[in-house]
Amino acid sequence: MMPLNQNKSSLRPVSVIATGSYVPSRVLTNADLAKIVETTDEWITTRTGIRERRIASPGEVTSDLAVKAAQRAMQKADVAPEDIDLIIVATITPDMPFPSTACFVQEKLKASKAFCFDIQAACSGFIYAVEIARQFIGSGTVNTALVIGGEKLSCITDWQDRSTCVLFGDGAGAAVLKSRPGSRGIFASALSSDGKLTHLLNMPGGGSIHPATQQTVKERLHYLKMAGKEVFKYAVNAMVDAAGNVLKKASMTIEDVNLIIPHQANMRIIQAIGERLDVPANKYYVNLDRYGNMSAASVPVALDEAVHNGLIKRHDVVMLLAFGGGFTWGATLMEW
Ligand code: ACO
Repeated sequence: MMPLNQNKSSLRPVSVIATGSYVPSRVLTNADLAKIVETTDEWITTRTGIRERRIASPGEVTSDLAVKAAQRAMQKADVAPEDIDLIIVATITPDMPFPSTACFVQEKLKASKAFCFDIQAACSGFIYAVEIARQFIGSGTVNTALVIGGEKLSCITDWQDRSTCVLFGDGAGAAVLKSRPGSRGIFASALSSDGKLTHLLNMPGGGSIHPATQQTVKERLHYLKMAGKEVFKYAVNAMVDAAGNVLKKASMTIEDVNLIIPHQANMRIIQAIGERLDVPANKYYVNLDRYGNMSAASVPVALDEAVHNGLIKRHDVVMLLAFGGGFTWGATLMEW
């Protein structure tokens, strides 16, 4: 399962030029959840580190969240809609099964020149999408890409299942990618998947195995299902492996990394990774206490906040690290 060499030296350098993020204004606290299911603030906080999450309004769909994050990134990058050649949206909660959410985003942004598609790698989606965009820009096929992780997980959350509904939230993060001479930009990535483990984290209903019927609705198959304990173990091992793989490819050690942006699923997972990588707590960014797990949106929202808070300076080395359903996992190294 060693990942292939995804670091083609023939590619021109590709950088994240700017980031943006957006979360809905409605806050759902642990105390609010305790009124819906049998749980407590104490259980959620000690088991996950999550204190509250954001929930989109009924009329606010994934592409709306994505567009708001994208507009903030585009403004910072000084990029106009007509400059964008490629839009990739990573999501497990698209506006519709088809067409792609990226096409909805294109229309809302009026980015008429872009070609657009979604990718689906659950919580690793943003890291996968960044690598796809890097290949397109690095090869000279396009100049400017908009990469978005956007999720309205509240619409696939089973609000009767206390083991999952306390974990997730809605939001979106975006990045503008371009070639920037004079910087290594994104210089290494290690992506992996293991399709033997699809059964541990999925949403069974609505696809070709269980097309929507009254029965699938009755059996609650249109909600996210997760075997939390098993996922936890895989998540820690996989992200530690991904970090090791990407560092090896770059001939670097963890000491060379200034800040790690891990997927925000569970504070205990992040702390376990921190211990295994032997890094202090100030070397990884955490915001899951405020947003919970936003799947593909978690990494880009955390990245944007870290930039906004001044934690990432020009030429710093940043590691993105994620794990999600599939299973999928990976790590990316970039010079800021
Ligand atoms: N409130 C109170 N009690 C609860 C709750 C709750 N919200 N949820 C579960 N419990 C109970 C269980 O019923 C169980 O009770 P029992 O011992 O009487 O059977 C007990 O708490 C322990 O449950 P566990 O599932 O063993 O709890 P655990 O410590 O494993 O924590 C959690 C669960 C938080 C889900 C954890 O396993 C986890 O974080 N897993 C990984 C999640 C993740 O990384 N996902 C990856 C990406 S997600 C994506 O790709 C979309």
